[in-house]
Amino acid sequence: MSIRTLFGLEGSVAVITGGGGGIGSAAAVALAEAGADIAVVGRNVAKLEDTAAAIGKTGRRALVIESSVTDEASVEAARDRVVAEFGRVDILFNNAGITSPKLLTDMSVDEWHAVLEVNLTGAFLCSRAFAQPMMARRHGRIINMGSILSGRGMATRTAYCASKAGLANFGSALAFELGPYGITVNTIGATVIVTDLNRDLIRTQPHLYDKVLARSALGRLGEVEDVTGVLVFLASPAAGFVTGQTLYVDGGYTAG
Ligand SMILES: NC(=O)c1ccc[n+]([C@@H]2O[C@H](COP(=O)([O-])OP(=O)(O)OC[C@H]3O[C@@H](n4cnc5c(N)ncnc54)[C@H](OP(=O)(O)O)[C@@H]3O)[C@@H](O)[C@H]2O)c1
Repeated sequence: MSIRTLFGLEGSVAVITGGGGGIGSAAAVALAEAGADIAVVGRNVAKLEDTAAAIGKTGRRALVIESSVTDEASVEAARDRVVAEFGRVDILFNNAGITSPKLLTDMSVDEWHAVLEVNLTGAFLCSRAFAQPMMARRHGRIINMGSILSGRGMATRTAYCASKAGLANFGSALAFELGPYGITVNTIGATVIVTDLNRDLIRTQPHLYDKVLARSALGRLGEVEDVTGVLVFLASPAAGFVTGQTLYVDGGYTAG
């Protein structure tokens, strides 16, 4: 296989949850540039349409699907639409995620459940739905959007840490179930990634990021390209023998 084929996604179909968000929209464009047609899934259709327009500029096809990853019926309907429109699913990027920074003692049960529902149950529902067309073709890539907090703790992030640690180990377990079908499952463990959502905060309150930066071997926060490069790799034939892993994209944060 040539290096171009090894790292390319020509002719494949990718589904991205939270495809209208900072990382999700960049991921959609990156996977499209690598050759994939893209379905973007989320609740905010206007943001998904913006991503679809950016995908269109790459020459690939885009499909916007309004769906909540926490709603079983709407996830299965999303799967059916992707298969009806594109005929196959090769890549699922479980990227939808929320956080609710709170001390444990201030956190309501509803707030706890909300984080677990989107970050963990959402990945379960999407993986279960989209694994089916992958299993039928005996090929697929499931990639979860984890965090450095998949393997480390942080005050005010108990629910988020629990969800992202659960997500990473969910991926490891699923790798064993889906390996016989030629499907790999991996998790990206990202440090703080600069997006439109946190750019102003990073500029106006840089001290909030001192602890992360102090532990970073490379001395900087992440950029979306740091994530999208690894995502395209994990989605590509080049990563066909990589499964059940959490690949940290963190400038060395977790190496220390
Ligand atoms: N940015 C960072 O520093 C960083 C670091 C490590 C990990 N991460 C992870 O990376 C992922 C993307 O984060 P981001 O920074 O790009 O944040 P973001 O811009 O807020 O994106 C999150 C996306 O999740 C979607 N979402 C939330 N609830 C959903 C639901 N019930 N159903 C479907 N989609 C839902 C949102 O879309 P809708 O509103 O349209 O539903 C949104 O597009 C998250 O999993 C996050 O935990 C981020």
